[in-house]
Amino acid sequence: MAARHFLTLDDMTASELDSLVNHASKLRTEWREGKVRDSLKNRVLSMIFEKSSTRTRVSFEAGMAQLGGSAMFLSPRDTQLGRGEPIEDSAIVISSMVDAVMIRTFAHETVERFAQASRVPVINALTDDFHPCQLLADMQTYREHRGSIKGATVAWIGDGNNMCHSYMNAAAQFGFHLNVACPEGYEPDPALMDKHSSRVTLYREPAEAARNANVLVTDVWASMGQEEEQKAREQAFKRFQINRELMQLADKDALFMHCLPAHRGEEISHDMMEHPGSVVWDEAENRLHAQKALLEFLILGTLD
Ligand code: CP
Ligand code: NVA
Repeated sequence: MAARHFLTLDDMTASELDSLVNHASKLRTEWREGKVRDSLKNRVLSMIFEKSSTRTRVSFEAGMAQLGGSAMFLSPRDTQLGRGEPIEDSAIVISSMVDAVMIRTFAHETVERFAQASRVPVINALTDDFHPCQLLADMQTYREHRGSIKGATVAWIGDGNNMCHSYMNAAAQFGFHLNVACPEGYEPDPALMDKHSSRVTLYREPAEAARNANVLVTDVWASMGQEEEQKAREQAFKRFQINRELMQLADKDALFMHCLPAHRGEEISHDMMEHPGSVVWDEAENRLHAQKALLEFLILGTLD
């Protein structure tokens, strides 16, 4: 049977995602109670990082260890990937030795090509276009704090980037409406906007997008690989900050989310991380639980 991959949220059905998020919460409870779980005993995850990471690396590596397996960190600097060995050749070799592969890279096409040639599940741990693992954690976090997100309104304030694209996919899969507020020239991918036109509304004013929303969410103004655009982006995005004033326009029980790392004073005001609606630390911790659920689903094919 062909391996199941997780390159975007569209690789799962809505009902699989629903079960996965519930399973993640169960794993969180069990882990906090100190229960030992060895569902992935002797299994190995390869982790290929072509970009930096704190949360993704720690959560996948700790997650595999906590389930009785192990994870190996591979960087292009120390492997033949960095010396031009074709993606497909690398995929055939690596996937002949391990049980799953996680990749963080630039072009989304790289994970697609790797997956095409891989015998084992491939997980997208962030590309220039999508960051689906973060959405699993965000959806788990919302559900743990507020129940089902179906019918809710989420306001994305900022860049139409990889995180925004994954929120657009999530809007369709989890059944919420997404308001996107971004400056001209920084819109999400037009093809994705067309695909999700019934679920996504574009605004030019952060206040309009935020009004009565159940979640306000943002991300850095310059993503990894865009460091040289930092100054220009600071100018373009300066009105697109989540702060207390913007939170006041949202629903009174609105949550504030951010995938982190955050740039205080840019996309969020200095006090947002401590705002009563902020759930950013739960989002970060839930990367661990959501990805443990994902690894079990992809490697074992079940969620028990
Ligand atoms: N949110 C997230 O993916 O963080 P890292 O870049 O630290 O992995
Ligand atoms: N949009 C950010 C997310 C980091 C987790 C980036 O790609 O750098």
